[in-house]
Amino acid sequence: MRAFPAAFGLTSGQTEQIIRLAGMAPSLHNSQPWRFRILPQLIELHADPKRHLPVADPEDRELRLACGAALFNLRLALEQAGIRPVVTLLPHLAAATTLAEVRGGGQAHQRPVDLRCYEAITERHSHRQPFRNIPVSTEDRHLLMRAAHEEQAWLHVVQPGEHGTLEGLVHRAHRAQMADPRFRTEMAAWIGRADDTTEGVPVSAAGPKPEPKDQWVHRDFTAGHTERAPGTEFETHPLLVVLCTRHNSREADLQAGQALQRLWLTATAQGLFASMISEVVEVPETREELQRLLGGNVTPRALLRIGHGAPSVASPRRDIGDMLVNGAAEAFET
Ligand SMILES: Cc1cc2nc3c(=O)[nH]c(=O)nc-3n(C[C@H](O)[C@H](O)[C@H](O)COP(=O)(O)O)c2cc1C
Repeated sequence: MRAFPAAFGLTSGQTEQIIRLAGMAPSLHNSQPWRFRILPQLIELHADPKRHLPVADPEDRELRLACGAALFNLRLALEQAGIRPVVTLLPHLAAATTLAEVRGGGQAHQRPVDLRCYEAITERHSHRQPFRNIPVSTEDRHLLMRAAHEEQAWLHVVQPGEHGTLEGLVHRAHRAQMADPRFRTEMAAWIGRADDTTEGVPVSAAGPKPEPKDQWVHRDFTAGHTERAPGTEFETHPLLVVLCTRHNSREADLQAGQALQRLWLTATAQGLFASMISEVVEVPETREELQRLLGGNVTPRALLRIGHGAPSVASPRRDIGDMLVNGAAEAFET
């Protein structure tokens, strides 16, 4: 068996662990649309076009967002191993699939705030269960806003007076997607999986089957495999945040992904749980309307509900060998 490749003078085992942690990032339907090319002095992050979701994400915006989140984990894991990552997004003269190049920039000194994020990588997961009716503290809200800022993004905390309009937009987006048979077929291919799946969302992580009365959680990941336990009610007032970037570009998609992951890991480190409500940013009409509601100058990237809960089930990841680009020739395949 070929040894796992090594980078930056680290051992093969250390490099493998770094890539494993990068691959623990969130992705639409757990599609894990990333691959890594490991060279002695360079790690390349590639999009995996075979994992593209053409109906939900025709322009690959969310694919790049997920890859940005993986890049953030990669940065944290390299720093923890003592390597200061120097990142070039969308390098010129690179293969069409290359999203970022990471080089070693000398000795890293990980800040305590980044160490806490690093330690949260294996704890973070999507929490599709109801939250407890406990408000998120002002201090935690500030930490989340600062986390987004630090990665060149901006966090809009949804105010109670905005809930009604946003709820209407989310419902509209959900109805539009579910009315499209191509969307339903695409999603069905990734959900309702058994626990030993290596991609897609297993039934155990699906959360309760949504009901029409639910305000925020509409996407049904149960695929009809589980019934909702009687008396299950979603929280009435989750913290709702919209992650935004100033620009609307491929580079900004990657920045948004890094910001999403810093935000989500910060929440996890504070003992909070989160799940994404993506329909509203996937459907172009509702995304544009949300953009107008936010003043028109920013691009909304992700809507999240955040709150207190109890640990729920994580979704598995594919084999680490499958995340590698084995040679230059393969990297140029699109
Ligand atoms: C761009 C993007 C969109 C997502 N949209 C949703 C969503 O609408 N609903 C949801 O429950 N989870 C959503 N997720 C979460 C993924 O389903 C989740 O990250 C994936 O299944 C892996 O599980 P984990 O987050 O527990 O590691 C999204 C994730 C990303 C990165």
